Amino acid sequence: MKKVILALDVCNFKQAERLIKKTSPYIDIYKVGPILFIQSGKKIIKMIKENGKEVFLDLKFHDIPNTVKRSVESARDLGVFSLTVHSAGGEEMLEGAISVEKRPKIWAVSILTSQIVDLDEVIKKSKISKSCGLDGVISSPLEVKFIKKECGKEFSVVTPGIRFEKCYDDQKRVATPKVAIKNGADFIIIGRPVLESKDPVKVLKDIYKSIKI
Ligand code: C5P
Repeated sequence: MKKVILALDVCNFKQAERLIKKTSPYIDIYKVGPILFIQSGKKIIKMIKENGKEVFLDLKFHDIPNTVKRSVESARDLGVFSLTVHSAGGEEMLEGAISVEKRPKIWAVSILTSQIVDLDEVIKKSKISKSCGLDGVISSPLEVKFIKKECGKEFSVVTPGIRFEKCYDDQKRVATPKVAIKNGADFIIIGRPVLESKDPVKVLKDIYKSIKI
């Protein structure tokens, strides 16, 4: 699968559709978060799948175990490829999430890449997620090597916080696509550097050139 996941952080269905048309040769998995899901819900998931692409539903569930388990069941019924939960929800919540039959891949947010934190805290959250049976974590590209060392190569690390220049927006723990992939990221997630570019396709082409895939 292609390594770049595009965050569809746009406001409406039409914008998402246009973006998918443009970028589909470069992207296998599109990320749908609350911005678009609240607006277009099931319709957006259906459209992405009809275009032959996978959906990563990034709603970051963080609730009591029963609610999270049932949310995972609902997401499974939509046919998404992967989804997120917050590792901070605790072990019972994480175990509830993974107990769902025929579930999508579940990746836990270690600690948001918009926060400055100690590596120890990230590793602790990653180890808890691994021991609860999750498929991987969402973490900064700067932490991938350490997480893989502690949790094993098979434990996926998916990295937002992808930036090329000094402009970090609200992200804090960032690196370039090249560094993320070199450090062992299974997928990189990118939003604004592509979405806000005048030429999103060129940005994607440049990313693939830089990671040589
Ligand atoms: O625009 P940008 O490249 O910062 O987008 C990153 C995307 O990844 C956003 O949709 C954001 O919600 C998501 N994300 C994140 N940090 C996490 C988990 C998800 O930035 N820990």
